[in-house]
Amino acid sequence: MRWREARELLRLRPLELEPTRRRLSRCHDIEDLRRAARRRLPRAVFDYVDGGADRERGLAANLRAFERRRYLPRILRGVAEVSTATSWFGRSAAAPIICGPTGYTRMMHPDGEAAVARAARRHGLPYVLSTVATTSIEELAAGGHPDLWFQLYIWRDRRLTMELVERAAAAGYRALEITVDTVVLGYRTRDHRNGLTIPPQLTLRALAGIAAHPGYWTRLLRSPAITLANTGKIPGTHGDLTVQTLASQFDPGLTWADVEQVRRRWPGPLLLKGSIGPEDARRALAAGIDGLHLSNHGGRQLDRAMVPLDTLPALRAAVGEAYPLLVDSGVRHGSDVAAAIALGADGVVIGRPYLYGLMAAGEAGVDHALQLLEAQLLRTMRLLGVASVPELRRAGPELFWEDGQPGPGRMTP
Ligand SMILES: Cc1cc2nc3c(=O)[nH]c(=O)nc-3n(C[C@H](O)[C@H](O)[C@H](O)COP(=O)(O)O)c2cc1C
Repeated sequence: MRWREARELLRLRPLELEPTRRRLSRCHDIEDLRRAARRRLPRAVFDYVDGGADRERGLAANLRAFERRRYLPRILRGVAEVSTATSWFGRSAAAPIICGPTGYTRMMHPDGEAAVARAARRHGLPYVLSTVATTSIEELAAGGHPDLWFQLYIWRDRRLTMELVERAAAAGYRALEITVDTVVLGYRTRDHRNGLTIPPQLTLRALAGIAAHPGYWTRLLRSPAITLANTGKIPGTHGDLTVQTLASQFDPGLTWADVEQVRRRWPGPLLLKGSIGPEDARRALAAGIDGLHLSNHGGRQLDRAMVPLDTLPALRAAVGEAYPLLVDSGVRHGSDVAAAIALGADGVVIGRPYLYGLMAAGEAGVDHALQLLEAQLLRTMRLLGVASVPELRRAGPELFWEDGQPGPGRMTP
């Protein structure tokens, strides 16, 4: 048998020789990216991203809340033309997905926040820069992403806090969200067990790990030092970047008066991010807050906080149909995005999904994560028989089958 015939018989696929593309071609969902990330990074860094607070009950509950929803699709709806497009505060986006704020992103990959913003821009999605980012407000804005948002931690040092607000406004950030669930830092058990330092240090244990992850350490050592690009050295931390030390400068005395002060200084859309119940939501409305980002910080703060997906219907009822509600914590698939919208969200925010991509393959990995989520969302919408995001919101209650009957079921605390 000649070679050509043999090849046809065996249906050999062309071999992907470029290593990054080859790695990504084997990642068919976010969980595959997570596994690739785990293989490529030192354990302490991977665990910083992957882990949660205390006993990680919240982390597990977030994932379970999405997994336990079962759809009841609509049939024969003509879904040849489907659009995932939406808009945020008057600006359109390609899909109801936002890349959320994550600290220390250059520790996961030296291209860090800039890589995430470039990928988000290519996909037509907003990106939220963290207060504890490793790329500065101005440097990121210079990249030209037209829909950057800024996440604010309120520091004990209010002058520093207000400076951040003013810099974000001057650099053209469109929206600001104040994180309200971090008055003290959650106990990140894995970080304590691993003795995580930031930046990762070449301790004896790390030296032993170099052989296992040479690529990571080479990239880290060749790239500019990891710093808190927005704040510089925080008073009281003596230049120590470790999360626990930094968080000691978050202010546990925070009250609504602080939020109102930021409201007076920030002219654009202002959101609160955290575990927010109906009562607080009504108060936020009265305080002139423009939207809520429901989040239990991906299970990294109050371990037994309610899962935002579960509180969503009650929150929607409290704030009315038109008020912007974002939800995060546990989105790992496009069908999770659809579920959140069907239960009353305007869109979702993701943290780990794009970080797994970044850790697995840098910017191309973030692209891959976003591509996966968008394709999964589009497919889910078609299979559900809905052609647009507003239609998905409207159809919501009839799309679920739970507890043996139609409807989204009762909220299980
Ligand atoms: C590594 C990491 C760092 C984070 N840093 C911040 C931060 O600096 N500020 C913030 O408000 N939230 C932060 N978060 C929380 C995310 O914004 C988001 O709420 C959470 O990741 C959503 O859950 P998911 O990871 O399951 O998508 C961080 C999350 C992770 C995983």
